[in-house]
Amino acid sequence: MKMLLRGGRIVDPSQGLDDRMDLLIEGKTIVDLGKDLSGAAAGSDLLELQGKLVVPGLIDMHTHLREPGFEYKETVRTGSLAAAAGGFTSIACMPNTDPVNDNRSVTEFILRKARECGVVNVYPVAAVSKSSEGAVITEFADLRDAGAVAFSDDGKPVMNSGLMRRALEYAHSLGVPVISHCEDTDLAAGGAANEGIVATRLGLRGIPNIAEDLMVGRDIAIAEYTGTAVHIAHVSTAGAVNLIREAKKRGVRVTAEATPHHFTLTDEALRDYDTNAKVNPPLRTLADVSAVREGLKDGALDVIASDHAPHSTLEKDVEFDYAASGMIGLETSLSLSLRLVQEGVFTLDQLVGKMSTNPAMVLRIPKGTLKVGADADVTVIDPDEEWTVDAAALQSRSRNTPFNGWRLRGKVVFTIVGGDIKYKYRAR
Ligand code: DOR
Ligand code: ZN
Repeated sequence: MKMLLRGGRIVDPSQGLDDRMDLLIEGKTIVDLGKDLSGAAAGSDLLELQGKLVVPGLIDMHTHLREPGFEYKETVRTGSLAAAAGGFTSIACMPNTDPVNDNRSVTEFILRKARECGVVNVYPVAAVSKSSEGAVITEFADLRDAGAVAFSDDGKPVMNSGLMRRALEYAHSLGVPVISHCEDTDLAAGGAANEGIVATRLGLRGIPNIAEDLMVGRDIAIAEYTGTAVHIAHVSTAGAVNLIREAKKRGVRVTAEATPHHFTLTDEALRDYDTNAKVNPPLRTLADVSAVREGLKDGALDVIASDHAPHSTLEKDVEFDYAASGMIGLETSLSLSLRLVQEGVFTLDQLVGKMSTNPAMVLRIPKGTLKVGADADVTVIDPDEEWTVDAAALQSRSRNTPFNGWRLRGKVVFTIVGGDIKYKYRAR
């Protein structure tokens, strides 16, 4: 079966491409890319894409799917559907399920569920430590062989520096990344919001920037000392951006991601005690938001990842102090990121790099490209389509987004995974 994507603007940083071109898919593979493929494509299904953007399938390297254990918040299936609706063809899912993904039976379970629902490519991230308790390291080689693409205790930091050192060394020898949730739990203890004027006004205990900066600095020091690589998750502070930028200049193999909420919102979003805006790390100040944007622009920050963290009303419709941290993001991530292109913070080419090519590189998966011969994972975007976020209408099983009602410009219109259309936008 052939499918011709005709006349779209192809933006693919993996081949330095930004041009109006046709793209031909046969079966699960991209078989041709060129100026006019109508002849070669006789008898193909046809997608007319004039005015649309055609980019390598988007990759979200930081999601929480909640299965096994918290299926009332999200399952592999509902999370996969949300991913496709957000333009993602591949996602990596964090191990803080119940049980934690700290052994091959959980990794294999997630992969089986993902295969059964067959919506997007799902790449499990396994825990660094047993039950992510920070004490005993997991079986890295066995987990890697079972299909884990990275290691992380995300949701919690690895407070034990000796354990972190060993994790970076083992992961290095296996050729897989460690993703670090940087938070000094002693400095952050009891905090519910960014330490500052807003938290003080609301009577909430604060999480200071230094809780993040200190651990980013530590992880960079360990990576530098051992000559290994580390990936910093959800960067939220100006200090962390600076540390990463400086480390890169010295040649340290550090990569990092930012979330749409950390480059879009400040702690002012907590004004009405909106628990949907409670996340960890917390929403910070305008100075931090500006620094994160600057880091995305100049390359200190390589990746945009959603940190899609579904929670039900049970965890969110409670007093702010007791509410769980996290917001869903798979279905708003692309449109919120396009705002930065519209505002001139970075280029479309950079956006595609940070949402596809770079996460593929960090995870070392053969994705993030439209090269001939690559898997036919393709995202088609209408850059002009305006839509309103309606939390009730999202594919995710959870509704915890502070962006409900936001009017956004730019919308995924087709998500193609392995040559099959898994999502098609129907404007209302
Ligand atoms: O806000 C967050 N939610 N931050 C994390 O690190 C974990 C996540 C979750 O699992 O809910
Ligand atoms: Zn985290």
